[in-house]
Amino acid sequence: MKTLKDFDVKNKRALVRCDFNVPLDENGNILDDFRIQQTIPTIEYLIERGAKIILMSHLGKPAGLVKENLRLTPVRDKLLEYLDVKITKSPDCIGSQVEKWSKEMKPREILLLENLRFHKEEEENDDKFAKELSKLGDIYINDAFGACHRAHASVVLLPKYLPSCAGLLLEKEIKVLSRVLTDPWRPLVAVIGGIKISSRIKVIEQFLKISDHVLLGGDVANVVLGAKSILLGKPLPGPEIMKKIEKIDLTSPKLHLPLDGIISLAETKDGLDERYARTGAIGQVRREEKAYDIGPETIEIFSNIIKDAKMIIWSGPLGMFEQKQFENGTKEIAKAISRNHNAFKVAGGGDTDSALREFGLRDKFDHVSTGGGAMLEFLAGEKMPGIETLK
Ligand code: 3PG
Ligand code: MG
Repeated sequence: MKTLKDFDVKNKRALVRCDFNVPLDENGNILDDFRIQQTIPTIEYLIERGAKIILMSHLGKPAGLVKENLRLTPVRDKLLEYLDVKITKSPDCIGSQVEKWSKEMKPREILLLENLRFHKEEEENDDKFAKELSKLGDIYINDAFGACHRAHASVVLLPKYLPSCAGLLLEKEIKVLSRVLTDPWRPLVAVIGGIKISSRIKVIEQFLKISDHVLLGGDVANVVLGAKSILLGKPLPGPEIMKKIEKIDLTSPKLHLPLDGIISLAETKDGLDERYARTGAIGQVRREEKAYDIGPETIEIFSNIIKDAKMIIWSGPLGMFEQKQFENGTKEIAKAISRNHNAFKVAGGGDTDSALREFGLRDKFDHVSTGGGAMLEFLAGEKMPGIETLK
């Protein structure tokens, strides 16, 4: 795969696919600009070498419609906080006007295109749309690791029309995550939590093969325990995923499931804040209840395993950390990982990243991936459309 270093970008229009899909509050303020921050090195690299920089991204899920609250204006404002260059935002991402602008640009200027997903053709992976986009650049740079699992026009089709390479962020993500998969320091410990079992089942299978310990928490652990009839009352996933879960060997010495949890009612009309929260063994969770966090005994066992690790990969909160009474497991495991100064520490996945930010522990990690679903697919060993197309 080609990288930025393979190109002379001077005076060239560098069309850069970024993942500026950042969380926004109801007033359109960026809640966390991590993904923007992580793209700055690529942009600075291009500025220093005199390229004309055209940035593009999707934001949210406007489903092919122009949604005022999903314009990239807040992203432009944020970029201005980091970069001391002229940044223009175009009202659309394709068309004769944008094309004209791209041709009038001076080196070191930035043109930020409007949300790609305002055109349904982006997600439809439409060839004509890609061709229109390609008119805006002389070379194409993919720095959107977080979107590489999507077979969308700006991710997979542009390399058909322009000389292409990976940006610095994409290069770094691939390098670090590949190392976890193929050349880990041992013991390698994988901590897997979160809600969506469907996106994690392959990751669990993968790490049961390649790591020394797999620690499960969150709803992912609940579903596995439910599928094995250890935890009651858990709605179980469809037959296909159930078949895969059933294959997981609970007696594997590598696999560590929660022994206790912070338990509460599975549903109540009083709302979450009114819930009781009691500590109990997993075997004592009643049918109408659910474990919302891992308990103190589990935290201790998991922390002991983490203490001796040389490499740790963490994806997915261990409990419902957004709620104070259920945040302890995620927080203590994040702290346990942070305390291990000998280990190479990697984390990623949307919620994990927010948890680390909330606990102020992000900078204790050697690498925090900008990918959510993308990181999980990479770790599961899946071929990712955006990466394959660059090869
Ligand atoms: C993400 O946040 O996962 C990426 O930006 C991809 O966005 P999507 O999940 O809406 O396709
Ligand atoms: Mg996503």
